[in-house]
Amino acid sequence: MITEVLTEKKWYKACKTDDVPADGGAAVKIGKEQIAIFYFARKNQWYATQNQCPHKMQMILSRGMLGDQAGEPKVACPFHKQTFSLKTGKSLTGECDNIKTYPVKVDNGYVFIDVSAID
Ligand code: FES
Repeated sequence: MITEVLTEKKWYKACKTDDVPADGGAAVKIGKEQIAIFYFARKNQWYATQNQCPHKMQMILSRGMLGDQAGEPKVACPFHKQTFSLKTGKSLTGECDNIKTYPVKVDNGYVFIDVSAID
């Protein structure tokens, strides 16, 4: 017998869409976590990740540069250019731990983050 565990999303109104620059990011604090929210305008996609870069533990990823690596949307840390997938959080340079990602949605001019995985 397979038991499926359904996790319910808890959407948190994080900011206005206008608070996040096109092809850029903004940081919000939710509970103990700093979350980086990105608007990838070229693809009209929204992403949310931890704001802390695992390379030197700097709270900086929201100020990173967005790009594309073989169709994978990514953010490059502005300090030492480590890059991470915005979809999965995977370290694309392979020299750092992966980063956390969070479901994100936009509704009526606001950005919502699923905080069910946040303490
Ligand atoms: S602190 Fe982010 S790459 Fe070094």
